Amino acid sequence: MRIGILGLGRIGAFHAETLSGLDAVESLVVADPFAAAAKSAAERFGAEVADSPEAVLAAGVDGVVVAAATDAHPGLILAAVEAGIPVFCEKPVARTMAEGVEVLKAVAGSAVPIQIGYNRRFDTGFVNARAAVRSGELGTLHTVRSTTLDPAPPPAAYIAASGGIFRDCSVHDFDIIRWVTGREVTEVYAVGGNRGADFIKEAGDADTTGAILTLDDGTIAVVSNSRHNARGYDVRMEIHGFTDSIAVGLEDKLPLRSVEPGVTFPAGTPHDFFMDRFTAAYRAELTAFTEVVAGTRTSPCTIEDALEAGWIAEACTLSLHEHRPVTIAEVRAS
Ligand SMILES: NC(=O)c1ccc[n+]([C@@H]2O[C@H](COP(=O)([O-])OP(=O)(O)OC[C@H]3O[C@@H](n4cnc5c(N)ncnc54)[C@H](O)[C@@H]3O)[C@@H](O)[C@H]2O)c1
Repeated sequence: MRIGILGLGRIGAFHAETLSGLDAVESLVVADPFAAAAKSAAERFGAEVADSPEAVLAAGVDGVVVAAATDAHPGLILAAVEAGIPVFCEKPVARTMAEGVEVLKAVAGSAVPIQIGYNRRFDTGFVNARAAVRSGELGTLHTVRSTTLDPAPPPAAYIAASGGIFRDCSVHDFDIIRWVTGREVTEVYAVGGNRGADFIKEAGDADTTGAILTLDDGTIAVVSNSRHNARGYDVRMEIHGFTDSIAVGLEDKLPLRSVEPGVTFPAGTPHDFFMDRFTAAYRAELTAFTEVVAGTRTSPCTIEDALEAGWIAEACTLSLHEHRPVTIAEVRAS
């Protein structure tokens, strides 16, 4: 099949590399307003370069991958759907929930499949955790801890366009908590601080946050995020039930150093970024998209799914700013 890619920045170039290695993908056609990014991808992965997103959609593609900056997502999703082309779009759906809800309304009733890029759903550890919860082997859950620590902040321009750390980063934790537990979040309380890069504070964002989520069955989820984790890219989840406890990410490349005497774990080179930590998950995610394009499976992460994680991010953002617990019902109604 022929796949278009819109946006060849950090994740777009990585998706181009992954797609170029999939058996189902015969050719790639790419566009990015930053011409050098498109040219570089074309040279590295044998892609054709088009002048614009419209030209990609008109170039006979079977599916399109949107990896452009977040504020371009709604327009590009709608353009693909209007052209009848299945679309994979990186998270989040839009910069604001109002725009995300508008996208959902605009595509309602369309048969064109849309997959949103929550890659953790394709990571073997998280897949196994979900199966363990579903099997009942952990007993009734009482606590989930979800951690995402970036090794260093993204560029200032990225932060400014990101919508803030809860909508940009923690939203992965929120999605995977819902997906692994099968429960909905009802209320959040969030805190945040700035003791790192000045440009994050200047953008009105926090560089380090914590959030306590109450799930609809009474499970407590604790989410920890930072843009500053010098030891590496740290993504983990611990799930505790009355019968057993499990961990995702507790492996040799975990970026933590034990100070216990005689303990050598973890002994590997720490994960340095999301491309390294989730290489196999991104491959499985884009393989799933080729199956969606081929019509052999339905979207494994719909716009509705993505917006649910978005409401949690919205509630955390409000909680941080107003120093109070916020229910999901409150932000949905606003
Ligand atoms: N799922 C994940 O793990 C993950 C990881 C990183 C980024 N992302 C998401 O991917 C998106 C891109 O992030 P990034 O880190 O690659 O950003 P980036 O700034 O490195 O790249 C964005 C690229 O989009 C291009 N662009 C902007 N408007 C465009 C348009 N209308 N058409 C085509 N290209 C356009 C820019 O020129 C730039 O090259 C963001 O929405 C981000 O949230 C997801």
